[in-house]
Amino acid sequence: MSETARKFTLLPMLGHTKGKRSPVTCALKCDNACAGDVCNTSSNSYFRDIASATLSRRAALGLGAAGALAVALGSAVSSAEPASGAGLSKAAKEGFGKSKLQFTAIKPVDKAVDAFTVPEGFTWQPIIRWGDPLFSDSPEFDLNNQTAAAQARQFGYNNDYTDIVEIPGSKGRRAVLFTNHEYTNENIMVPAGYDPVETRAIGRAAHGLAVVELERKNTTKPWSYVKGAPLNRRYLSDTTYELTGPVAGSALVKTVADPSGRAIKGTFGNCSGGTTPWGTILSGEENFNGYFVAGGTSAGDKRYGLTAKPTARQWELDDPRFDTRNAGYENESNRFGWIVEVDPFDPTSTPKKRSAMGRFKHEGANVIVAESGHVVAYMGDDEKFDYLYKFVTADTYRSGTTAADRRHNMNLLSEGDLYVAKFTGNSPAAEITGTGALPSDGAFDGSGEWLPLVVGGKSAVPGMSVEEVLVYTRLAADKVGPTKMDRCEDVQPSLHTGKVYVVCTNNSDRGTGTKEGATEVNPRTQNRDGHIVEITETGDQASTRFNWTLLMVCGDPAQGDVTYFSGYPADKVSPISCPDNVAFDSVGNLWISTDGAPSGIGYNDGLFKVTLDGAERGKVEQFLSVPRDAETCGPVIHDDERTVFVSVQHPGEEGTFEAPHSYFPDYVQAGTTPAPGKVRAPRPSVVQVFRG
Ligand code: FEO
Ligand code: CA
Ligand code: CA
Repeated sequence: MSETARKFTLLPMLGHTKGKRSPVTCALKCDNACAGDVCNTSSNSYFRDIASATLSRRAALGLGAAGALAVALGSAVSSAEPASGAGLSKAAKEGFGKSKLQFTAIKPVDKAVDAFTVPEGFTWQPIIRWGDPLFSDSPEFDLNNQTAAAQARQFGYNNDYTDIVEIPGSKGRRAVLFTNHEYTNENIMVPAGYDPVETRAIGRAAHGLAVVELERKNTTKPWSYVKGAPLNRRYLSDTTYELTGPVAGSALVKTVADPSGRAIKGTFGNCSGGTTPWGTILSGEENFNGYFVAGGTSAGDKRYGLTAKPTARQWELDDPRFDTRNAGYENESNRFGWIVEVDPFDPTSTPKKRSAMGRFKHEGANVIVAESGHVVAYMGDDEKFDYLYKFVTADTYRSGTTAADRRHNMNLLSEGDLYVAKFTGNSPAAEITGTGALPSDGAFDGSGEWLPLVVGGKSAVPGMSVEEVLVYTRLAADKVGPTKMDRCEDVQPSLHTGKVYVVCTNNSDRGTGTKEGATEVNPRTQNRDGHIVEITETGDQASTRFNWTLLMVCGDPAQGDVTYFSGYPADKVSPISCPDNVAFDSVGNLWISTDGAPSGIGYNDGLFKVTLDGAERGKVEQFLSVPRDAETCGPVIHDDERTVFVSVQHPGEEGTFEAPHSYFPDYVQAGTTPAPGKVRAPRPSVVQVFRG
């Protein structure tokens, strides 16, 4: 066992096994969020009657800082239509249609199988893998001789949110690929005996974000990435991010290294995200607490899961800022937990952290333009019993295509109103039972309210300033009585209908011990498989009131799980568990990637299409299945081109470097395994699936 592996194994926080993954992964990915007391223990209590695109991509046109690159999003790589004033697609006005991407659903794949499975008539290939060289001077990936310097010039680890956006004027032959590199699995990244200092540095260099140019011969061919392309960029732990909005310059975010409180080094735990109509990418800083040692006793530390334990990666040994007990760095962890905005078309631009959108474990953010022109962002806080948020910009979107329009739009997210959701059910019925159909009394739907936290630049929370509300958003929300949710992951509006899909991935603690039981909007105790809520705003998208219903309660009906698929026959759906990220195709179908199915229903995670309209509403069809121990994330659906992209995150995560669980992607693609004695680690990759 390497010193690194031994260290990971010996760390006390690795003893938790209550989560859905191995102890090592629970520590590395989310600092044992399942096992700790980081869950919402606020006195915000509930009663029985309390419930329980693609963005207008063509709308954006902009100029990079160099002034040379016009960016019209998605004209070839996305089939979404431009935003109308209401932010809905042109197709929305024409009703749901039939996608060009037709397939026969695959059967679920057993969790022990190390394969990437696609429907008949389709094939797949990785576009880019962990370690692939990005720049002309980048070294080739050398598994057994890794260095931090090399990793900084290569594609990072554990790609999560992904988007692929055409470069205008390229006739569909060039695009930019954006990905988050959420976290690292050091236990399967480096060989036994590897230098621990270098291992920690490699891990840091494998975090962050990446922008990579893609090319293809013509629009019928798959994409390849371009080494040394001008837009290629890695965002690393020493990249400077500008903090914008009400918290910029606040005493709550100043450190000895940044007395301005405006210049933050790095971004960590970037999970999901979204793409704006003006051509920027939003990225959510999620499990940031896992990177910091803290006092662990303040209300803020407790509410955000910051503890005095050594961190899993122990970066605090290398840089004092990762231990907020060090003088001058008390506020360092306040500088993480934000939504990041990046311009992938300008490699010299300074990325932004948007304090107006609040600080919590941001899964991501997805936006839509309201009829009023205000941009509305939906955001989930991915923690058991935490909340759902909505942000409405103070200024309005400009649909023009000049550089000035884009500059204006690129500042929209720096100021606005922040709300948190309260759901009210229509029925006293709380816990869902059975499969296939809801009770006839109208249960499991209702109305809701967006409770204000910051409005018009003023705090709506008694006793807290705007800066305090935005830095300690969870504590602020606790005071106004929102609904405790089952881990909101992606929260995404359909540009087809304006309806918003709230993906609740699971909550095994619901109804256990003294914790809150089933409510109408979170209708299952010990919610292993997750569910999806559909919100319809009342009137304009920026409204403070909404109606809601359940789209689905996930599980495997064939195994007797309690499920619901909007009334669609449960025996005619693909089993689905732990929904995480979502995307829409050009005709309004919802596509869902999953994270956690293996430990529940026993199948590898996958990507699923769900019909939202008509007689087949609720029909779930599995499109692909990822390899052993992997999570499917970052779905991108270019159904007009009959192609789909996913990020394959942490393949083989429960193995070791010496005894891998997965040989993804190269050996899996070839259908072979390495020769005896030849170690080959799995490599997280972005994969394209296409006809062929
Ligand atoms: Fe990184 Fe909420 O999943
Ligand atoms: Ca996620
Ligand atoms: Ca996830």
